[in-house]
Amino acid sequence: MEKLYEGKSKIVYAGPDEWTCYIKYKDTATAGNGAKKEDLPEKGRINAKISNIIYDYLSKYGIKTHMLRVVEPTMILARKAEIVPLEVVVRNVAAGHFSSRYGIEEGSPLKNIVVEYSFKNDDLGDPLITDSMITALGIAEQAELDKIKEQALKINELLIRFFDKAGIRLIDFKLEFGRCDGGIILCDEISPDCARLWDKATNEKMDKDRFRRDMGDVMYYYEEILRRVMKANE
Ligand code: TYD
Repeated sequence: MEKLYEGKSKIVYAGPDEWTCYIKYKDTATAGNGAKKEDLPEKGRINAKISNIIYDYLSKYGIKTHMLRVVEPTMILARKAEIVPLEVVVRNVAAGHFSSRYGIEEGSPLKNIVVEYSFKNDDLGDPLITDSMITALGIAEQAELDKIKEQALKINELLIRFFDKAGIRLIDFKLEFGRCDGGIILCDEISPDCARLWDKATNEKMDKDRFRRDMGDVMYYYEEILRRVMKANE
């Protein structure tokens, strides 16, 4: 297969048609822009499965995604899109950089849902960026940003409901969108690698923070999320 791109956690190969690509999930886990890197056996398979179930659920509720079909346990066939170079973060509860940047305790409630953008650029360290900066730099047009925000908030509502059924609190998560057929579609993945997921009963962290913060049992909790997501999806 022709490799088109290799990222930190996924590899993109040319698909059978020019408008498709294969996306392969790797076992590699990274944090701090690649400063911390480790292979976590089975992570690719587990994240692919979790993300596939979630994308299937979201598409049933009208969210357009890149997902076409599952090819192998760690590989999907996707629509090829032109990725908008933004990390779109939605926050329901303060955590991570939001807590450290604004000096607010992790787990604090927020008076409203936060949608924020970072410019996807490893050399610059993915800096936080505002709407008018995004349009000024030509990264996206205002109409595209409006659509991205509307989709992100709709996805948040759907995911809160889904994870709640799985006994999980959705604290925050990151999305990526792409341009395809004149519209905006959801790309990338939704997994414990890019969302903060806390146990509803105990507030135990079940996501990548276990890796970032050396809390241990990373794959045990990822497996547990998969188990609960499968059950909630029945
Ligand atoms: P954030 O608190 O901004 O950063 P960090 O995880 O480094 O403390 O992250 C908010 C959520 O978005 C969190 O669930 C992790 C996810 N995220 C990514 O997966 N990748 C990214 O590049 C960014 C900025 C966030």
